[in-house]
Amino acid sequence: MLLPIDAQTAESRCFDFLRSSVLLMCTPHSLSHFSSTCSREVEENYIIIKRLSKGKFGEVKQVQQKRSKRQFALKQVNLNQDPCCDLKIQLLRRVQHRHIVRIHDVFWSAGVMDILLELCMDNMAAYIESHRGSEVYQTPAVMEVADSLAQLLRAVNFLHEKQVAHRNIQPCNVLLSSQKIWKLADFNFACEFDPSSPMSEKVGSRPYVAPEVAQREYTEKCDIYSMGVLFIALVRGGEYVRPSSLEDVKGKEAAQELLNETTWTQRLGYGALVLAKHMIALEDARCDSEEALNNPWLTQSLGAARGCCIIS
Ligand SMILES: Nc1ncnc2c1ncn2[C@@H]1O[C@H](COP(=O)(O)OP(=O)(O)OP(=O)(O)O)[C@@H](O)[C@H]1O
Ligand SMILES: [Mg+2]
Repeated sequence: MLLPIDAQTAESRCFDFLRSSVLLMCTPHSLSHFSSTCSREVEENYIIIKRLSKGKFGEVKQVQQKRSKRQFALKQVNLNQDPCCDLKIQLLRRVQHRHIVRIHDVFWSAGVMDILLELCMDNMAAYIESHRGSEVYQTPAVMEVADSLAQLLRAVNFLHEKQVAHRNIQPCNVLLSSQKIWKLADFNFACEFDPSSPMSEKVGSRPYVAPEVAQREYTEKCDIYSMGVLFIALVRGGEYVRPSSLEDVKGKEAAQELLNETTWTQRLGYGALVLAKHMIALEDARCDSEEALNNPWLTQSLGAARGCCIIS
């Protein structure tokens, strides 16, 4: 059942965060410098093709297994900087799902963990950027947006059923697989949660982090808030993904414009706006993943899509 939303309050809370530029609220160990040494297994059995990214915890490279010629992504994490990494690996192994990036193997060497992952293509941030100003965001295809949202909500629903919170959902942590489906990645901040006691670690990335995280008392619904902002980012494209640019224009006014009813109604329909607001509502009024997946706009859009083309 849909709960009422204090939309005004929710929006202003959301955009108070949005007004600031993207800010990482990291634990001190995440501010690492990466050592580029590979484990012996990787050096002997894989060829490094190119570097895909250099992030907070380490580097991600595209590699090819010499024997099979199969390609993978190799994420290297400095264990001195992220001592809990092996726990997150155990967690990631436990939550394998069609819309969660697949882990193939893990190798250790002095101070470094090499994590072999399925090789994906773009991340969602690059995808949104590449469509900036293009037709997709002038009039986003309803089915495409609904399908992308549903894929990720299924992953989140699965995680929450397993009592795992991701805690860092944002476009650069969502990857497009070679089968052209979205996959949730980067479990650096993920944790198991106890439904009877709130989480308190201050982690996440602006503007995707839920406001209650700053109060150090929150539940797995922080992931739904992030999904709501990601939904807005998908609909509004680069306008939302780069919040600092909003300050260049008219700050909060421009931000409020992102949930402008006319724009949403023209682009996706009023039901989509209701869902977005429900996802970024204050925690008590916010929907959970199940409710979001059962949202009438989402189910109708997916139903219409099934009638005319193949989607996930
Ligand atoms: N399996 C993969 N296939 C292809 N590219 C990947 C893969 N995993 C990660 N990447 C690329 O590397 C980037 C960073 O990966 P990830 O988010 O896992 O690490 P991170 O340490 O959090 O880095 P960052 O600080 O950049 O978020 C992703 O946004 C993506 O572009
Ligand atoms: Mg990341």
